[in-house]
Amino acid sequence: MIDIHELKKQCPDYSFLHMDTVGSTNEYLKEHLDLPEKTVVIAEEQTRGKGRKGRSFYSPKGCGIYLSLLIKPQDSLDSVFDLTAITALSALKAIQTIYGITPSIKWLNDLLVHGQKIAGILCESLFFGSQIKAMILGIGINVHAFERPAEIASVAASIEDFSPIKKPRSILIAKFLNFFDEYLAAPDKALEDYRKQLAYVNQKVYIHQAGQISTGIIRGIDDHFHLLIENEHGQQESLVSAEISIRPWIQS
Ligand code: BTN
Repeated sequence: MIDIHELKKQCPDYSFLHMDTVGSTNEYLKEHLDLPEKTVVIAEEQTRGKGRKGRSFYSPKGCGIYLSLLIKPQDSLDSVFDLTAITALSALKAIQTIYGITPSIKWLNDLLVHGQKIAGILCESLFFGSQIKAMILGIGINVHAFERPAEIASVAASIEDFSPIKKPRSILIAKFLNFFDEYLAAPDKALEDYRKQLAYVNQKVYIHQAGQISTGIIRGIDDHFHLLIENEHGQQESLVSAEISIRPWIQS
């Protein structure tokens, strides 16, 4: 069980709601938007964990961190995009600090170790007219080794598959929230660190976008975390859409 008492001590600015089972922590927050900013919902298990693009996120009991953080941004859409990237980076830094392994970031927000996904992030924005009302930052991290269903066996892994270090999950959550606060206060540092961890830099990738597949070479990110791609004609493009999917290019 996650030690919420310890978390409250380590992260006094946050409020925590801890559940044994929930459909999805993101959905829970969506139904409780009146909760204060910086509320963190943590579940031991999700029965309908959601991933990006309508996928599910396998969330077996006690094996991972299934967490959603409620933010009420005052700012523009750009800062919302930044928040998504900062969430991924903060999770990466927390994992690196505690477990001594350094995942890479598959833009925008999957964490990979040796090409296998150990964490995913689903950020959802809720609008009131054209104003952002709230943002829900949902993070799923596979911590303990777990029995993987066949459909994710080749692509998913857990931190403990790569690190011998065992720590309570509350320590990882506290570190994540500490990094999140630090990066929010230092966005330039967030850009610098994100760039260092970006996966597939200078490599050719497939880009799936709006039903089309193209190839390009990843050149980095711009100052708004948009992905810089050199397209098939040698021109540089910046990609913003969160609906892009990237796969390493495999020569046949
Ligand atoms: C992805 O891999 O595409 C994103 C996965 C996000 C999973 C987390 S777990 C906590 C939060 N609640 C959900 O239903 N999804 C996110």
